[in-house]
Amino acid sequence: MHASTLSSDRRAETDSPLLDVLVHRWSPRAYDATEAIDEAKLGSALEAARWSPSAGNTQPWRFIVARRGTPEHATVQANLVGFNKEWAGDAAVLIVAIAEHTNENGDAMTWAHYDLGQAMAHLSVQAHHDGLHVHQMGGFDGSALSDAFELDSRFAPVTVATLGTLGDPAQLPEVLQEREVAPRTRRALGDSVIVDA
Ligand SMILES: Cc1cc2nc3c(=O)[nH]c(=O)nc-3n(C[C@H](O)[C@H](O)[C@H](O)COP(=O)(O)O)c2cc1C
Repeated sequence: MHASTLSSDRRAETDSPLLDVLVHRWSPRAYDATEAIDEAKLGSALEAARWSPSAGNTQPWRFIVARRGTPEHATVQANLVGFNKEWAGDAAVLIVAIAEHTNENGDAMTWAHYDLGQAMAHLSVQAHHDGLHVHQMGGFDGSALSDAFELDSRFAPVTVATLGTLGDPAQLPEVLQEREVAPRTRRALGDSVIVDA
């Protein structure tokens, strides 16, 4: 496939049938840098996160939602690291996914990261179902973001996610163009299921 092809179909080659949205979900780096976010779809994505399960219904997730063109979006982008800084700023929205790892009494919230990850999974599935794309990132400066948004020490940024519509891979630096269209891969299921009694 040529790198300038719009890579809107990077479907998973699955061994068992999946929901369409799971087959077609993938993490792009080329985003349309001109289109504003569809507010209804953004609302649905955040609502999906809101309704995900959590340990004891503690809902230990918080989000910084920053639309392109705002100072907050620029702040989040500025605190990405490495090549993330080069592409993620094109996305209509940057979302900082934050875990409440310690409750108001000072007790550790053991499943906060697990619950936050599940909330982000629900968010990304809903967004892809609605024609948006999500790309989660671990490459950012968490303490700088905590300082910039004056987060209480009970909270920690865990990932930053892009949310937006697809752009053209040709807009990416060359090394990222190749990754944008390369086949998606996974190890065999049998290498993950360690007991199958
Ligand atoms: C917690 C987490 C951290 C990630 N960090 C980055 C990152 O910093 N930069 C990046 O380009 N992709 C990052 N990714 C995206 C993964 O590389 C991507 O999900 C994986 O290669 C599978 O591709 P797919 O989502 O298209 O199936 C991250 C994904 C997750 C879930």
